[in-house]
Amino acid sequence: MQGKTAIITGGGSGFGREAALKLAQKGVNISVVDLSKEKGEETVQLCEELGSAAIFIQADVSKVEDVKKYVNETVGRFGKIDLFFNNAGISGSGVRTLDCSEEEFDAIVNVNLKGVFYGLKYVVTEMLKTGGGAIVNTASLGGLVGMPTLGAYSATKHAVIGLTKTIAGEYGRENIRINAIAPGTNETPMVKAFPTDAIKAMADAVPMGRLGQPHEVGNVVAFLLSDEAAYIHGAVISIDGGSAAL
Ligand SMILES: NC(=O)c1ccc[n+]([C@@H]2O[C@H](COP(=O)([O-])OP(=O)(O)OC[C@H]3O[C@@H](n4cnc5c(N)ncnc54)[C@H](O)[C@@H]3O)[C@@H](O)[C@H]2O)c1
Repeated sequence: MQGKTAIITGGGSGFGREAALKLAQKGVNISVVDLSKEKGEETVQLCEELGSAAIFIQADVSKVEDVKKYVNETVGRFGKIDLFFNNAGISGSGVRTLDCSEEEFDAIVNVNLKGVFYGLKYVVTEMLKTGGGAIVNTASLGGLVGMPTLGAYSATKHAVIGLTKTIAGEYGRENIRINAIAPGTNETPMVKAFPTDAIKAMADAVPMGRLGQPHEVGNVVAFLLSDEAAYIHGAVISIDGGSAAL
């Protein structure tokens, strides 16, 4: 993967940062895209410490002009886009679906669904000019099953899986290889802040008896973006300790 270029949205934290670090170790140039300048620049610094060329691009994936900006700036700096981790997403305030406000529903659709669509639209267009590339979209366990109190989130993640499968059918012959990941609950800073009892209950519900670690997602993303995964296309890969199996 040495010398290839990746765009990672939501690269300032969590899965995005872990994937960035894994790819940086392999000599990939990284465009870290995030709303947060502070977190994004921190990821860039960590990638540079691993010897990778990395840049930060501040962008809101739900705004089409920002998406065009991160695509153009990446091509301007590195020449082309080989790999894309289309990952930025938000969850929701945790109310029953009918109690979700229109504003919150729109915000979740705008980031999780339209943001993923805009990214695909402009990144795939670039990849087609240079012979293709590999893409991973972040769905969720909630894209495979319902998630009580996260209705908008679950709906958008089901939709990300639909987009992934459809684009796989449309662009596979042009060397665009695209997959989705469906992570279960991970021990992110947000989850770590929950009461111990709540964390234990979540872990007990997982067949492996524990929550995921963000680097376990980053490892799978780096694999799916590599040539090792050359014949994996249009797939949804669960990374959830077995939760989707039940
Ligand atoms: N954490 C989990 O347990 C879990 C499980 C399944 C799926 N996911 C999904 O994985 C993805 C990453 O989650 P995470 O846990 O790493 O989250 P995180 O909150 O740690 O990181 C998300 C990053 O995205 C950035 N971001 C948010 N909205 C943005 C926007 N509009 N434009 C650009 N950047 C934006 C944030 O600033 C943050 O740095 C999301 O799509 C999320 O829905 C998370």
